[in-house]
Amino acid sequence: MAAEEFSEIIAEVACRLKSADRVLFITGAGVSAESGLPTYRGVGGLYNRQQTEEGVPIEAALSGRMFAAYPELTWKYLWEIGAACVGAEPNAAHRFMAELESDKAQTWVLTQNVDGLHRAAGSVNLVEVHGRASDLFCAGCRKEFTASDLLGGFQSKPVLPPVCRECGAVVRPNVVLFEEALPQQVCESLERLAGIDFDVVLAIGTSAVFPYIAQPFAAASYRGRMTVEINPCETEISDFASHRLSISAAEAAEWIGKTYRST
Ligand code: OAD
Repeated sequence: MAAEEFSEIIAEVACRLKSADRVLFITGAGVSAESGLPTYRGVGGLYNRQQTEEGVPIEAALSGRMFAAYPELTWKYLWEIGAACVGAEPNAAHRFMAELESDKAQTWVLTQNVDGLHRAAGSVNLVEVHGRASDLFCAGCRKEFTASDLLGGFQSKPVLPPVCRECGAVVRPNVVLFEEALPQQVCESLERLAGIDFDVVLAIGTSAVFPYIAQPFAAASYRGRMTVEINPCETEISDFASHRLSISAAEAAEWIGKTYRST
């Protein structure tokens, strides 16, 4: 697509964002790619290796069942995810979403990312559906810890799995593992979002493989709202996009932000 075609879409999106009251951003690993974090799927994706060193698929290594039986194995790969976040800073895309929220109170971010970068950028209306890697809790007594408190961060690897100082049970990150249900509080937040008729829904840097991610985008499309997909590759939800920008999240955010501010 030529740069002029992008600029037409950018202008339309920025103009609609300006007049919108309610905006939903749905984000995935691609939004943090320009902060130096790996994605799960696609180029450089963490899940591209078919098997772990232990000979099981990575999804099995990161499952609730594996954690219950072999927490040290699950932790080995959870550690990679946590360690990848060390030193990462929000990029232009995270910052633009937070900026829009400070402009329009009914701006929401629904993210699958566990890196905490939306919060670091200042987003408050935030649903982190898969939790946050830096928040830990004891699987026995449920005492909560932070990774920096219990492990000294994700810099140098301690003996895994870490155990609770209070009761000695295994501690885990507060993230949703494969085969685990979403926490009740997250389900309630998703229901609340489903009840809002967003004027614009933007899906940024996600392969949208989970129904609770694809659904709000598809629903906005059925309602005839502006649905914008920002992703260099086509995905499960591309057919529901009224506008598609096949460029990176940070580039799109810089461009849309500049046009938005000058509109
Ligand atoms: P994926 O890794 O599945 O998808 C990342 C998407 O970002 C792909 O569609 C890429 O094309 C796109 N992408 C890559 N670089 C980009 C960039 N610079 N700008 C914009 N887009 C870019 O990540 P998610 O959709 O987040 O769940 O994956 C969803 C879930 O799968 C994760 O939360 C995790 C994983 O299993 C759990 O851990 C439960």
